[in-house]
Amino acid sequence: MKTFTILKPDDWHLHLREGLVLKNIINFTSKYFGRAIVMPNTKTPVTTIDKAIFYKKLISEALPKSSKFEPLMTMYLTDETNKEELINGFKNNVFFAAKLYPANATTNSSHGVKKIENLYEIFESMQESGMPLLIHGEVTDSEVDIFDREEVFIDKELSPLIQRFPKLKIVLEHITTSHAVSFVEENNLGATITPHHLHINRNAMFFGGLNSDFYCLPVAKRENNRIALRKAATSGKECFFLGTDSAPHLRQWKAFCGCAGIFNSPVAIESYLQVFEEENALDQFEKFASLNGPNFYNMPINKEKIRLVSRLNKIPEFIDVIDKNKVVGQIKPFHAGETLNWQVEGIVN
Ligand code: DOR
Ligand code: ZN
Repeated sequence: MKTFTILKPDDWHLHLREGLVLKNIINFTSKYFGRAIVMPNTKTPVTTIDKAIFYKKLISEALPKSSKFEPLMTMYLTDETNKEELINGFKNNVFFAAKLYPANATTNSSHGVKKIENLYEIFESMQESGMPLLIHGEVTDSEVDIFDREEVFIDKELSPLIQRFPKLKIVLEHITTSHAVSFVEENNLGATITPHHLHINRNAMFFGGLNSDFYCLPVAKRENNRIALRKAATSGKECFFLGTDSAPHLRQWKAFCGCAGIFNSPVAIESYLQVFEEENALDQFEKFASLNGPNFYNMPINKEKIRLVSRLNKIPEFIDVIDKNKVVGQIKPFHAGETLNWQVEGIVN
């Protein structure tokens, strides 16, 4: 049986939701991750300091009492974002970063940014103060093929943006293409890579009929892109780091409206490990999971370690959402019903 330890990882891109879902899922992340950047696309998006403080309190209340897990809050940028609010929030450690959703790019993004140029003044201040900008990198123009939206965003929006703000600290989130991999490498950006984009290509959405379990945004692309992402994640290069984009949707909603998002937090570490093992790169996993992120964000690395064991690990079909001891809903996890080869055994002090 193979086993090894790594420094406790962080999740640099996570959706925690609110209410019952938050209460039922947070433990999957807080158990083995030190910190997570929490996405602000809640039902009422996190657009102000007060909303971020309130949301952080909800998260803290949902955590087990002894938990040392640290949620890192983000501000949701809109066309009306107040620059002072944003920068004050950053300087006072309320906001860790700002999140740019092009309007209607994905779940709960209708308040997002309609024209990136409208935010140039804000980016100027972010650049000056060192506040990171996290980008959902897809154009929303319905005339652009959905499989090309990341690539077009990079060429039409991101490229001019970084030319104008060369010192702005940018993370291109959940990258899905070889084009994004090269762009990130060549332009000194950071990028998160999800477990699902390392495992599936676009065929997964059409296997056995339309299958919304594998529908997320940006959508998985062709196989050559998945191969490029696997190479990037396992390369050890400092610009690539772990960000699950775990995005729970209750089964009834997912089945009904096919909303975008894959819930992977119950299996995230094991899912990544499987990929690193298949790529003969287990020795690079700690960099991707625990070192590159803190290094990019100038944060201390976590002190504790987690122990990883190579052991058959059957993933349940559903995770229950429980209220007052009653099952009131279910969420399908990534790898549902599959058997993975790895398991996190626990924390090592
Ligand atoms: O698939 C996705 N789901 N992509 C996103 O960018 C948002 C997320 C969600 O919030 O459900
Ligand atoms: Zn996301």
